[in-house]
Amino acid sequence: MPIQLRSPAKLNLTLAVLNRRPDGFHNLHSHILKLDWCDEILLEPADRLGLRLEGPACAGVPVGPENLVIRAAERLAAALGRPPEVAITLAKHLPHGAGLGGGSSNAATVLLGLQALWRSGLSDAQLAEIGADLGSDVPLFLRPSGALIEGRGDRVTDWASPWSGLACVIVPRFGLSTPAVYGACKPRDASRPESPWCGRMTARQFMQTLYNDLESAAFEIEPRLQEIQQALSGVDDRIVRMTGSGSALFTLFDRQDEAEQWRISALSAVGEPVTIHIAQSA
Ligand code: C5P
Repeated sequence: MPIQLRSPAKLNLTLAVLNRRPDGFHNLHSHILKLDWCDEILLEPADRLGLRLEGPACAGVPVGPENLVIRAAERLAAALGRPPEVAITLAKHLPHGAGLGGGSSNAATVLLGLQALWRSGLSDAQLAEIGADLGSDVPLFLRPSGALIEGRGDRVTDWASPWSGLACVIVPRFGLSTPAVYGACKPRDASRPESPWCGRMTARQFMQTLYNDLESAAFEIEPRLQEIQQALSGVDDRIVRMTGSGSALFTLFDRQDEAEQWRISALSAVGEPVTIHIAQSA
């Protein structure tokens, strides 16, 4: 039986870069919100491993073994001692190189789908280990909920956000390189920060508590991103944050009409060409 799955985007609501590790990665402390903005994945039994890309955001996405979904299928098959026989159709809606976690989400979703298709008996911990080997952001997508991620990103705890509603996600035409942004970042050299929330909050209150330690490094590498952030902050006096290592930015709303109105004003305020997508928190 074919399996149809949705592969969601994420936002890093907070992102503290604690310190650089001997393995070259950084220890993080980051609260993750999943969005109801998804790629779609179809898994069908086949006599060999294949990937077909479609959808509005598939330009520039690798179709060979550099694509994490291929590596995910190969790694799971190797762990199960079976051939990686599956035809994967990936409909891309999420932009690439934007800090929304699209590729990592696709890999995690394929791991979860193949667990079912191949009737694999691997434990959650075994699957998380395969996920962490594929990429730092893969384990957080193996769980349906919001998450607090720590370590390299491989320590994941379920986390319920004190706010839910709508995100305007601003996507510039340019992407950013994750290794370059981490390389330019100055870590805090401090222990984990406290979570600053108690009780439900409005979108405006919540935005005031969010931060991303990678922003200044990203702005150094790509000054146009800072210009976009400054232009957008002036629209209805909203705080605008970056997600992950960029290049997407976001701001949060409680009501659909507010989000739509802001989107119209923002598109005319910003000098650079951007797209703005309105997504519901998942
Ligand atoms: O794990 P992933 O392949 O997504 O990481 C891409 C790059 O991002 C790493 O090579 C590293 O430069 C940087 N990174 C980091 N610390 C993390 C996650 C990623 O330095 N916790």
